[in-house]
Amino acid sequence: EEDCPQNAAGAEPASGQDTEKTEGVASQNGEEEEEDDHEHSDAKDELQSGSGSETKAGDGKAGEGEAKVLKFRVTCNRAGDKHSFTSNEAARDFGGAVQEHFQWKADMTNFDVEVLLNIHNNEVVVGIALTEESLHRRNITHFGPTTLRSTLAYGMLRLCNPQPTDIIVDPMCGTGAIPIEGASEWPSCYHIAGDNNPQAVKRAANNISSLLKKNENKESSTSSGIPLDIIQWDICNLPLRTGSVDIIVTDMPFGKRIGSKKKNWDLYPACLMEMGRICTPGTGRAALLTQDKKCFAKALSRMGHIWRKGQTVWVNVGGLHAAVYLLRRTWERAEEKRSFW
Ligand SMILES: C[S@@+](CC[C@H](N)C(=O)[O-])C[C@H]1O[C@@H](n2cnc3c(N)ncnc32)[C@H](O)[C@@H]1O
Repeated sequence: EEDCPQNAAGAEPASGQDTEKTEGVASQNGEEEEEDDHEHSDAKDELQSGSGSETKAGDGKAGEGEAKVLKFRVTCNRAGDKHSFTSNEAARDFGGAVQEHFQWKADMTNFDVEVLLNIHNNEVVVGIALTEESLHRRNITHFGPTTLRSTLAYGMLRLCNPQPTDIIVDPMCGTGAIPIEGASEWPSCYHIAGDNNPQAVKRAANNISSLLKKNENKESSTSSGIPLDIIQWDICNLPLRTGSVDIIVTDMPFGKRIGSKKKNWDLYPACLMEMGRICTPGTGRAALLTQDKKCFAKALSRMGHIWRKGQTVWVNVGGLHAAVYLLRRTWERAEEKRSFW
């Protein structure tokens, strides 16, 4: 079994709530385990924290002629094992500085502005949340053990610069995060996806059904379907014509929750070979996500005649340091295993 049972898959991750007073400022933690994401690492901790005294609802409302005092909270996401501070401490100290600089009031629940503090090893990105909820689960209702964040799926697709009428394939689609994002955001392309695990294919089909239902309920929607087909297949033997695919975007087994590092030594070269066969020589491109970088590099070195490596984008997947490799299909003919395609 490579996937986990249906009922467990849809469950929300466990979270623990704790309220504490630190150095005279109120803070609140909600540690969230990324169960639905990739392999979880202890290095990642994600929680929300604010600093400054708690304010009651209604506080900070401007009276006539008075300027409104903004209420804020800081949410910190931290990944990396060399930090001498927790995300709670980072959020608290950063919140203190924001409060002092802008004279805003901290409020954990009734805030106007959510300040995001994303710390990844020695890199810090500060932002303002534009949506109330994170968009990383948009369009997905049936989760699997390694469901990819929709936001990352979108980024991978975008790196391939899809053009109208392009055929885009995810040959190891799991619950379908990549093709569903693709079909929603690039509806002029045709998306095909598959997986060798029947349970994963079922979940992907359920996610498509939910999306169709959601679209039906939208008054403004005129769409009568989404340009996406899902089938069960083995990536080493795809039922697709040679040179027929413009773009391949996939999230490969890391060898932790799905498969094993040992299996990857056979799987990765076979994947690159078969993906090279279906992809259009000269113009075809691929964005492949993996954390098993050593195995990927070795496999790619054997397939250098059909794939040329471009940019590598480093990403944090559930606390793991993973890479999105952008590849370009060379003009070289790929090996034909069968004559009938
Ligand atoms: C990292 S997961 C993909 C997760 C997916 N992006 C999602 O959002 O659910 C890798 C997938 O590769 C599939 N897989 C492994 N070996 C395969 C093979 N030989 N052919 C097709 N799919 C395979 C697994 O079943 C798994 O669903």
